Amino acid sequence: MSERNRRVLLVGRPAGIPLATDFAIDNAPLAPLVSGQFRVRNHYLSVDPAQRGWAADVSNYSQPVPLGSVMRALAVGRIVASRHPDFPVGTGVYGWFGWQQFATAGPADVLTRVADTGLPLSAHAGVLGINGLTAWLAFHDLGRPRGGETVLVSTAAGAVGSIVGQLAKAAGCVVVGLTGSDEKAALCLRDFGCDRAFNYRSRPLDRLLAEALPEGADIFFDNVGGEILDRALRSLRPGGRLIQCGTASIASWDPAPTGPRNEREVLTRRLTWSGFVIFDHAARFAEAAAGLVALIRAGALTYREDIRVGLDEAPGALGDVYAGRNTGKTLIDLTGEG
Ligand SMILES: NC(=O)c1ccc[n+]([C@@H]2O[C@H](COP(=O)([O-])OP(=O)(O)OC[C@H]3O[C@@H](n4cnc5c(N)ncnc54)[C@H](OP(=O)(O)O)[C@@H]3O)[C@@H](O)[C@H]2O)c1
Repeated sequence: MSERNRRVLLVGRPAGIPLATDFAIDNAPLAPLVSGQFRVRNHYLSVDPAQRGWAADVSNYSQPVPLGSVMRALAVGRIVASRHPDFPVGTGVYGWFGWQQFATAGPADVLTRVADTGLPLSAHAGVLGINGLTAWLAFHDLGRPRGGETVLVSTAAGAVGSIVGQLAKAAGCVVVGLTGSDEKAALCLRDFGCDRAFNYRSRPLDRLLAEALPEGADIFFDNVGGEILDRALRSLRPGGRLIQCGTASIASWDPAPTGPRNEREVLTRRLTWSGFVIFDHAARFAEAAAGLVALIRAGALTYREDIRVGLDEAPGALGDVYAGRNTGKTLIDLTGEG
């Protein structure tokens, strides 16, 4: 095993979307393990829009990544050395292993162990990682879908959105997707469960939503916030459920942007507007993963991975995700390194 570790460090505090220049790659010696630790060789690094919030110095649900340290990230890999009896060499693990080749970790860094699902290791950082788990738990718990209801989902071709569309379809709902290009809209119709799908850049939003949702929507699974949220909220039917999963369209929260006042719409339509953070739900990851695997095996859930090869791809990958250059889950493949 290599004695050195190539790592992506956060070296600049991004004002909005992190740029490749906010990161630097170094090659540091690996420290020996102490009792209770194990070493994970990362196979796939996760690229998540949430990393923008972790890298920034504005209020969030977690502490900012310190400048000069390894960029906080989820990853999936295998244990290659261990001084912990419950985590033997060879165990597959998914967790807080950072944008680097090797993580020196302990039990608290592990989100899930790789179960024997027959799916490739990469799936454990995508459809069975926070993206699929978020889709499953947030959609079912907060959406409370009933057959025949209409579900609107934003970033419908993204890692979370592409799964939500299919879960909604499996729940017997009519599924309407919003995404950023005609090509992605076609994929949403073909692969991601949508009955109708629209490129939100193709025409003014009010016109597009009137066309997309002539009957209104019962559930809006929103990954973007901003103008799409402001307008789509007014397409929700009485008793509608709005799931705030992400705010990808907001370039910066400092200062917080302003928009139309929608509280009257929330009141008169008797809407439920719920926020969701996946890390509050660790106790239910196994249950959600089992549900996802069952749907995959039944042929009712497909997933797409947007895989870039090599650690050097990581610094620019977040910018690409925010530019909508990904389809499905963005991962960095390190299997050829180290
Ligand atoms: N709450 C939680 O616990 C939790 C967990 C996981 C993810 N999330 C959130 O869920 C959202 C989706 O995450 P993901 O990993 O699945 O990412 P993703 O959808 O695969 O990638 C982000 C997508 O955002 C869209 N986008 C970027 N800028 C936009 C803009 N200005 N307006 C509209 N859309 C824009 C792009 O899709 P288009 O090309 O379609 O525009 C891009 O592909 C993110 O906001 C993420 O932070 C939340």
